[in-house]
Amino acid sequence: MKKEMSWLFEGFMRKLIIAIDGPAGSGKSTTAKLVAQKLGYLYIDTGAMYRALTLKVIELGIDPGDEEEVIKVTRDTKIELLYENGDLRVLLDGRDVTEKIRSPEVTSLVSVVSAHPKVRDEMVKKQRELGKNGGVVMDGRDIGTVVFPDADLKIFMSADVKERAKRRQKEMKEQGFDVDIDEIINEIEERDRLDSTREVGPLKKADDAFEIDTTNLTIDEQVEIVLRKAYELINQNSN
Ligand code: CDP
Repeated sequence: MKKEMSWLFEGFMRKLIIAIDGPAGSGKSTTAKLVAQKLGYLYIDTGAMYRALTLKVIELGIDPGDEEEVIKVTRDTKIELLYENGDLRVLLDGRDVTEKIRSPEVTSLVSVVSAHPKVRDEMVKKQRELGKNGGVVMDGRDIGTVVFPDADLKIFMSADVKERAKRRQKEMKEQGFDVDIDEIINEIEERDRLDSTREVGPLKKADDAFEIDTTNLTIDEQVEIVLRKAYELINQNSN
């Protein structure tokens, strides 16, 4: 292939790493999933990985605050993200735990488990491995800052806490949990506090991330903004 042609080909084939970070209920998972579908990319839900580990810690009766015990479990655990008819399934040591990891108990402890630096170290390694070839949309708290600081596109999603709580309440209702809105606001604020103040990989906007406040946006509008930015980059790379 001529040099010019091969350059063109590589440019055309270049697959982006898209990082989407933000607090609970900001709309990042829904957006990330739809953007990945549109681009034919892989969607990697890093929160689901921390949630699966937390479920195992609970089931084994281990103290979530005990870093040494939790890291032993982490090293001895296989977490897989699979796609079935476009839906993400989460496997914990081969067992489907997709629904279980969304329980209020897991939600209330996940920020304790995910704050341990050694646990994050292991998880970040796995996430880098999963995304290293590009063609991925990865969402979480530290994707643009720690996991892929050189990501092609970094998005930080935010929204008013009341709106985030309303969305979370609706989601939980669909999963069969009827929870009072004030309880959800408290849970979200506590999780935001823990996630933002931990020493390693705290929730924060990367300096070069594009911020989207989703309080008054529809899902379609959010997806559109991210897709437009992604296409700009893809076109730049293939010109
Ligand atoms: O969906 P939701 O926003 O409730 O949270 P999630 O994305 O499922 O993440 C659950 C928890 O995992 C967060 O509150 C963080 O404590 C932790 N997490 C993290 O520490 N780092 C990530 N990259 C993703 C999630």
